[in-house]
Amino acid sequence: MDGQKRMNAEDEYTARLAAHRDKLHACLYSLYGRHADFENWFAQLLQQAGHRHAQRSAALRALDARRQATPDWFAHERMLGYCAYVDRFAGDLQGLAQRIDYLRELGVRHLHLLPFLKMRAQDNDGGFAVSSFEAVEPSLGSMADLEALTAALREADISLCADFVLNHVADDHPWAQAARSGDAQHRAFFHLFDDRAQCTQYERHLHQVFPHSAPGNFTYVEELGAWVWTTFYPYQWDLNYANPQVFAAMADALLQLANRGIEVFRLDSAPFLWKRLGSSCQNLPEVHVLLKALRGLIELVAPGCLLLAEAIVPSQELPPYFGAGDECHLAYHSSLMAAGWAALAQERSDILREVMASTPTLPMPASWLCYVRCHDDIGWQVLANDYRRMGSGSHELHAVSAFYNGRDPRSYAQGAAFQSDDPKAAHGSNGMSASLLGFERARDAQDTELALRRLLLLYGLAFSFGGLPVIYMGDELAQTNDRADSAQSRAAADGRWLQRPVLDSTRLAQRHDAQQPSGRCYQALRELIQLRAVLPELAANAPRQLLRNQEPALLAFERGASLRVLANFSSRPLPLPSLRAELNMPASDWHLLWRAQASASDEALLPWEMLWMQRR
Ligand code: GLC
Repeated sequence: MDGQKRMNAEDEYTARLAAHRDKLHACLYSLYGRHADFENWFAQLLQQAGHRHAQRSAALRALDARRQATPDWFAHERMLGYCAYVDRFAGDLQGLAQRIDYLRELGVRHLHLLPFLKMRAQDNDGGFAVSSFEAVEPSLGSMADLEALTAALREADISLCADFVLNHVADDHPWAQAARSGDAQHRAFFHLFDDRAQCTQYERHLHQVFPHSAPGNFTYVEELGAWVWTTFYPYQWDLNYANPQVFAAMADALLQLANRGIEVFRLDSAPFLWKRLGSSCQNLPEVHVLLKALRGLIELVAPGCLLLAEAIVPSQELPPYFGAGDECHLAYHSSLMAAGWAALAQERSDILREVMASTPTLPMPASWLCYVRCHDDIGWQVLANDYRRMGSGSHELHAVSAFYNGRDPRSYAQGAAFQSDDPKAAHGSNGMSASLLGFERARDAQDTELALRRLLLLYGLAFSFGGLPVIYMGDELAQTNDRADSAQSRAAADGRWLQRPVLDSTRLAQRHDAQQPSGRCYQALRELIQLRAVLPELAANAPRQLLRNQEPALLAFERGASLRVLANFSSRPLPLPSLRAELNMPASDWHLLWRAQASASDEALLPWEMLWMQRR
């Protein structure tokens, strides 16, 4: 770098520091101010950040500048995401670079790769037990491969999103190993309890994430001579963010990854970062102070990056994760996702209407992440409050989860219950979209056609709601549950492996063949994606309004001032002329842009069909 450029970089940093320092200080002081050496610690944190800024490449700094000039860059109608496992999608990071053309063909601009950093040697929760933030999992490649990939993706206008697993580390991470060997500094990185009674006190208010495969929230570790807090699996040790050294170390890990070219960080398990006796230890106010502090550091060093909250909580509880536009940029709309599936199971749209009506308005620039499936189960509890507000009991949730558990011969869904043997409980549901929507149980072409309509209905909702829609790997090809032998044993230990198949190369090769279900699915989805990309009404920040109507199976809403979505969540055809009359949509004013069954008559909205209409 020549002298002039270095000056510019320094000036840039000085200016950002002037803008963000006080707020960052206030945030961190509120958490750590009681420590005697706080000011020193804070000065070191800034020095470390300055160092990371100095290391940021010219290409990434140019990206930062472009993004700062258009802060809502991720909220436009062309934003489309795709989520995949590196090995299951492309073998390794180098193989992934070979798949960029495919992603571009689909119209993808945001690629979430599930964990690829060095992971625990044995069981590792699909990579969510991280052994090093500074190395790539050797079977997937190297840091050089990662940097080459991010550069190639940037060139293709695709932002790489990576998990930043900040709640815990693997029990073989160097910090955990140092703690095991008795190092006091590293023991203080974790929540350790000598006395089981202390854990019991916390447990009174704690929920269990994996009650079957990993019951409890604490694990006794012989070498530690103590119980360690393990919200998830026993080998995932929760970090103690009450310790400022933990914050500093994790912030540095984040900034280093940003310098590798990762543009979006999925803040894994964000609600769990802070613990307080007597509380559920989820979504505590301190979590938001921590996230705001991370955002502050991102603004200083890598302002082109985005933070995505992985907080699977009801949408009404999500506004704190956005703060006043000073926390996360994106959050999963899991209520919308679950409500779409629930509406399908119930053949009624009231739950969706309720969720949509109660979706909070976001501070700008911010956006929802809309999705249909992901690598985890569908958790129904996010809908509990919505059903309560509708005056319904928990039996609704039970019925919905039972519909997807694969045991009801009347259901088209071939899924499986997660973490529960009790058929009456509202357990989570596992399964690929295609299996849950009827592709797997289809007996003939007509059944397959109906399954495709359901898939287009749920994806059509994600595409039209307003947000960043993300396709889960294989859904675009109607790929079904993983039935491979290797998957069976994995799934026996953790049922979520059902929805983590290797991308089916035959389906991929057949994607342009309309005679094949995978080809039909791919083409229909792509058509919808391409249409969406030219409709400014579908940008994340365009207004959205629910349209009241009397038909229980119909969901109708308007985007912008000129686009309407009509969706039939039932197995019955609905009379289109009378629906249009009720919604005041005469043919003279509204024309059809897209419908799932292009050749259908104007007389009916077919079972599970979606329509996009535009004002003339
Ligand atoms: C997130 C991930 C999930 C993982 C958990 C623990 O919820 O999505 O797959 O098991 O975090 O890291």
